[in-house]
Amino acid sequence: MNLSLASAHANLALVKYWGKSDEDLILPRSPSLSLTLDALSTTCVAEGSTTGEDAVFIDGEKTESERDLNYLRFLKAELGLESGVIVRSVNHFPQAAGLASSASSCAAMAGALVGLSGKNLSLPAISRLARHGSGSACRSVYEGFAAWVEGDDQTSVAQPLESPLLEDISVVICLVSREFKSIPSRLGMRMAQSSPLYEDFIYQCHRDFKEACTALRLGDLSTLGDITERNTLAMNRVNQTARPPLIYPREKTEMICELAKQLREEGIACWYTNDAGANAFLITQEQFAPLIAQRVHSRFDVETIIAGPGPGLEVRHA
Ligand code: PMV
Repeated sequence: MNLSLASAHANLALVKYWGKSDEDLILPRSPSLSLTLDALSTTCVAEGSTTGEDAVFIDGEKTESERDLNYLRFLKAELGLESGVIVRSVNHFPQAAGLASSASSCAAMAGALVGLSGKNLSLPAISRLARHGSGSACRSVYEGFAAWVEGDDQTSVAQPLESPLLEDISVVICLVSREFKSIPSRLGMRMAQSSPLYEDFIYQCHRDFKEACTALRLGDLSTLGDITERNTLAMNRVNQTARPPLIYPREKTEMICELAKQLREEGIACWYTNDAGANAFLITQEQFAPLIAQRVHSRFDVETIIAGPGPGLEVRHA
């Protein structure tokens, strides 16, 4: 058996995926929208094992995680790979930045296994495979903006979305916490359903998704930013009102959210979002990103990374 190498980038959700209609197939309750980021990537090498065993190494360490091994077994079964496979995955993320790498790593692993199988799969078919590793991974298959829609196992995949905003959209990643999130998204989503606001939130996600797609088509960053910020705050409210409550943002995260509002009042394009963690993400235009990064650093002593739109999945055969 030969060797295959794939790389994929993380993505930032602008309209969030925060709940499943099917936990086994990883089907979402609502459609979501994301931007793939150039600054955060995973490379994954897959090769046949001489012993016939399966193994996954993450950043040089062998993992015993059932989740990773089950995902490898799932990919092998789907792709008709019968002998053992060794996977080596390396995250090119800032050291201990507390940023989730599951989207880029599951997309890269799907790509590497597809490469190894020699099968010529379409991007939507690879998006489906990535979704089985981690829901949001299905969007990391594409460069720039991607939309993931509900459906069944075959149809719930991501698609790329064109937008003039790709020319100059930028994201300032604010590393508020270097610890990895305490409650993984899989569990967080389950807990969120106990909130009395949950069904309204799902309804809002459908509406936000539609409006965000229009804003993307029109190249309207201000509307897209407003939708992203309100969608994030709605997700946070659902989490706060869950039983028991689930709170991802920290004090500095909240202060960065306030800063986004202040910057807008000064005429600087800047909108806030967070995912299932304490880090804040500020959406802006390329021209404002260094100034925003500098403000965050000087006011809150928080390190930042500036990211632009990232490339889609790349697979190479060696
Ligand atoms: O794909 P998961 O299971 O890591 O969930 C991702 C959840 C959020 O990042 C909060 C939202 C999203 O759409 O990416």
